[in-house]
Amino acid sequence: MTDKRRLGVLISGRGSNLQAIIDAVAAGRLRATIAVVIANKAEAGGLECARRAGIETVVLEHTAYPSREAYDAALVAELRLRDVQLACLAGFMRLLSAAFVEAFPNRILNIHPSLLPAFPGLHGQDQAWRHGVKITGATVHIVTPELDAGPIVLQASVAVDDADTAETLAARILVEEHRIYPLAIGIMLDGGWRIEGRRFIRS
Ligand code: GRF
Repeated sequence: MTDKRRLGVLISGRGSNLQAIIDAVAAGRLRATIAVVIANKAEAGGLECARRAGIETVVLEHTAYPSREAYDAALVAELRLRDVQLACLAGFMRLLSAAFVEAFPNRILNIHPSLLPAFPGLHGQDQAWRHGVKITGATVHIVTPELDAGPIVLQASVAVDDADTAETLAARILVEEHRIYPLAIGIMLDGGWRIEGRRFIRS
């Protein structure tokens, strides 16, 4: 029987969300296989998390490719080679081409540190803190070609305290990221959901 629960995790940095996924799999809270971790930077700290867990790693430096399309084609090839069903962006700091998104329709997830559609783009926690919102949070969404705009799978809210700095707020949001990302991955893999318009609906 082919394993229909194979993940590819794409990272650029420290990899704490990757670690949360690894931990959820190890603890039996998420039934999945992390088939490969791909980083666009050789110095991404998350590569060490993957190696420690015995997960195959691939470094694909985007600077080595002539165009976004060429780079994304290489990413797609690596994921397909390992029969990945769901690609999980975990702090992967690259815009994806339409070709990448079309290669994995409704099969790419991203975690974002705000309650989308508020504060898309870089530093969502900092944007929310500066704006002075009283509630922010984390969002797991399906990736579409438009940045941070795809159907929302799960969200968690975080209250902002007057005493918060951008850093203390980001730390509490991160706790929620680590909680909801493995949950959202499980929901996607389990199936029994559909998308109506922009709405992700579990049936
Ligand atoms: C997280 O805040 C995530 O929401 C954002 O990038 C950060 C990645 O952190 N997309 P880490 O590498 O998972 O620790």
